[in-house]
Amino acid sequence: MANVIVVGAQFGDEGKAKVTDLLAKNADVVVRYQGGCNAGHTVVVDGETYKFHLIPSGALYQKTCIMGPGMVIDPERFLSEVEALGNLISVDKLRVSTTAHVTMPYHLMIDAAEEDSRGDQKIGTTKRGIGPTYADKCARSGIRVEDLLDEKVLRSKLEWMIPRKNVILERLYNLPPLKVEEVFTQYYEYGKRMAKYVSDTAAIIFNSVGQKKNILFEGAQGTLLDLDHGSYPYVTSSSPTAGGACIGAGIGPTIIDRVIGVSKAYMTRVGEGPFPTEQEGQVGDMLRQIGKAWAEVGVTTGRPRRCGWFDAVLGRYSVRINGLDCLAITKLDVLDEFDEIKVCNAYRDKITGETFKELPSIGASFKNMEPIYETFKGWKTSTSECRSYKDLPVEARKYLDFLADELDVSIAIVSVGPQRDQTIVIEDPIHGPKRVLTRST
Ligand code: GDP
Ligand code: IMO
Ligand code: MG
Repeated sequence: MANVIVVGAQFGDEGKAKVTDLLAKNADVVVRYQGGCNAGHTVVVDGETYKFHLIPSGALYQKTCIMGPGMVIDPERFLSEVEALGNLISVDKLRVSTTAHVTMPYHLMIDAAEEDSRGDQKIGTTKRGIGPTYADKCARSGIRVEDLLDEKVLRSKLEWMIPRKNVILERLYNLPPLKVEEVFTQYYEYGKRMAKYVSDTAAIIFNSVGQKKNILFEGAQGTLLDLDHGSYPYVTSSSPTAGGACIGAGIGPTIIDRVIGVSKAYMTRVGEGPFPTEQEGQVGDMLRQIGKAWAEVGVTTGRPRRCGWFDAVLGRYSVRINGLDCLAITKLDVLDEFDEIKVCNAYRDKITGETFKELPSIGASFKNMEPIYETFKGWKTSTSECRSYKDLPVEARKYLDFLADELDVSIAIVSVGPQRDQTIVIEDPIHGPKRVLTRST
């Protein structure tokens, strides 16, 4: 029995879905605990590509799939995702929390309008209404999934809320107002169609723990997009880090056995915000192009991803903030053609000249950090057929050993292609040794 959290250790799109899918084979329950359809999770099986936005990526193994209370759910997108995946997953094992918050049409409109109004302060959101939905949750004015099932409650909440949102839509953004009756009719109908999935999901998880089942918690987004611990304000509005799993699923930290981080062998970011190792020239193009062969374009929004070298300073930070036991490194094959490969192993503060191996602060000074690189010889040969650590070229092993040493964490999995079998398991990711803390910041 093991209860495991999988988290993104970078800026999202690390390949979490591939790792979740692999681990889901031996799990009984797979739980999404935060975020919404801003997530774009890709699983490739036998050459077929499956995309998940709200439904947990473990669904292809027909496991019990839970969308926890920490998520925000756009009912329209949920229902179309269920329809699209319908006969590939066990829809009868899909459960949506009664208390997850609902993304309403005004959230979508405000997300888009707010972004457009920000000018050079824009965040580059996915425009899926994520920030405004979480803002209403914190303001205690949100609509929860259970409200969609109760005609009276839904109507009365909308009668209070929509006139207020209309003030913002009309006066601030010059947009047409919403009509209570139209929104009510549409969302009450969604509620009826969702009703069969709605449950007290925290109780399902609690009972599964009691029955010694294996529970897999699947993070969306990544550590550097965490509302509290990421590169604020260029973050999402939830807690993608390991701690978020307990809050977002409704379980105590004592049941967690293991935390696995997922990082690419290089780095990408979608949207605005600091990215110290970003490569805008030939290297960035090459990472994007080679990656593009493997759909290196944001799954949710179709925006090209910004690409750069692996950042070990941020890697150490992710190990620390999530308490990672081990790492899965994905997309090693994307580096196959490079003559040389760089890793940022320290930062220099452009203003003060100081150097740091540990991130001094993820606050305002983060944007002043410039990378200090170590350079590695490329292996210039395909790794996509390698199936064990010893199959990897010596230069690739040197590169991975360096990352493991510098981040002070073992690399349990290396992924060398999007397919399930393009995976090297170096150490049992679930039952391998617990990481022992040996360093301080
Ligand atoms: P997630 O959001 O973290 O689940 O990641 P995404 O699905 O948004 O992006 C990862 C992309 O990389 C997807 O297109 C995957 O199919 C692909 N992918 C995952 N692992 C590998 C790998 O090892 N090599 C290559 N070339 N592609 C991979
Ligand atoms: P997965 O789960 C990469 C980014 C957006 C934007 C910021 C805020 O596939 O890794 P939001 O719409 O959440 O308010 O946008 O966060 N972002 C992601 N980037 N992968 C994701 O999800 C992301 N979800 C949000 O691009 O910069
Ligand atoms: Mg993604």
